[in-house]
Amino acid sequence: MNYDQLGHEAVARIAAAGDLDALESLRVEFLGKQGSVSALLKTLGGLTPEERKETGPKIHGLRESVSDALAARKADLEAAEMEARLATETIDLTLPAPDTPKGSIHPVSQVMDELAEIFADLGFAVATGPEIEDDWHNFTALNMPESHPARAMHDTFYFPEQAGAEKRMLLRTHTSPVQVRTMLERGAPLRIIAPGRVYRSDSDATHTPMFHQVEGLVIDRDIHLGHLKWTLETFLKAFFERDDIVLRLRPSYFPFTEPSVEVDVGFALETGPDGKARRVLGGSGDAPGHAWMELLGSGMVNARVIEFAGLDPSEWQGFAFGVGVDRLAMLKYGMDDLRAFFDGDVRWLRHYGFSAFDQPTLSGGVGARP
Ligand code: DAH
Repeated sequence: MNYDQLGHEAVARIAAAGDLDALESLRVEFLGKQGSVSALLKTLGGLTPEERKETGPKIHGLRESVSDALAARKADLEAAEMEARLATETIDLTLPAPDTPKGSIHPVSQVMDELAEIFADLGFAVATGPEIEDDWHNFTALNMPESHPARAMHDTFYFPEQAGAEKRMLLRTHTSPVQVRTMLERGAPLRIIAPGRVYRSDSDATHTPMFHQVEGLVIDRDIHLGHLKWTLETFLKAFFERDDIVLRLRPSYFPFTEPSVEVDVGFALETGPDGKARRVLGGSGDAPGHAWMELLGSGMVNARVIEFAGLDPSEWQGFAFGVGVDRLAMLKYGMDDLRAFFDGDVRWLRHYGFSAFDQPTLSGGVGARP
């Protein structure tokens, strides 16, 4: 049998196939189960070894040229089909695209980013601690021993007592335990802020069982109240984007600071675009038409806390402060109900949320600065 002849004829018919259907029929005719080339391959089994040596390569060669020709013609026909579609089909680019819903940054996340950015400029790193805390870090190490009345003021969510457990677990009531944890972990000197969620069993228009605080801590040699006041003033002016922020420091009491100061900020009542009165920060609270508003707690870190945190208070001192993040957001962006922060109402988020593209954020939003 003339296998070359057979091959040429097959390849010629394949090359002439007019479309993919015709090509498929040819494939079945040659290589299908009952195909002519398949039939030839089957005859190899009945040959003597010598005959097979002679005929085998020819039949395999035939099969190879047929399948090569099929593949080549298939590629040509498909390319031609694509060409034809490109030449005839059109897309109307002027049609309006369907609107894709866009997410936005929650004001609390936005404010935490702003805080991290402002304090980074002042050389503060961001520190974190667990929200499920133990009573030693949340209270004892902050100079609130077991029977201390300040513990009762915190409306703590406790976990059930574990038999034999040394420490009672709770949801942290403030970010202050991060002070202790960071001193224990990193030693001194330190400059950190610790933003995060805190929990208290309390709920009304200005209290939610979960809210946010940011703690600040500086530990170094020769730190005094002047450093605290300058830092808070610089921070608040940058945060509220006003140079006329005026602070008043009032003596106060916190177990973990000594002396303790409460910081007030001057404000005036102004009528907003909605006709409602809003507090606008700026100016002395003693100026006509102004008043003072309590904003945050702070003080020089109590020597007992420094000791609990494993440092020598005769060598290291520092200051600390704690402030509500939600409160800062409400004051800066004019929101009036704290509960709306956590209702998950998308209309509220759309109104107050921040675009991931417009607002450069430190913690790596889409608009993060390089
Ligand atoms: N931890 C206090 C609270 O939650 C706030 C506070 C006051 C933090 C004074 C401080 C501070 O670091 O020095 O009420």
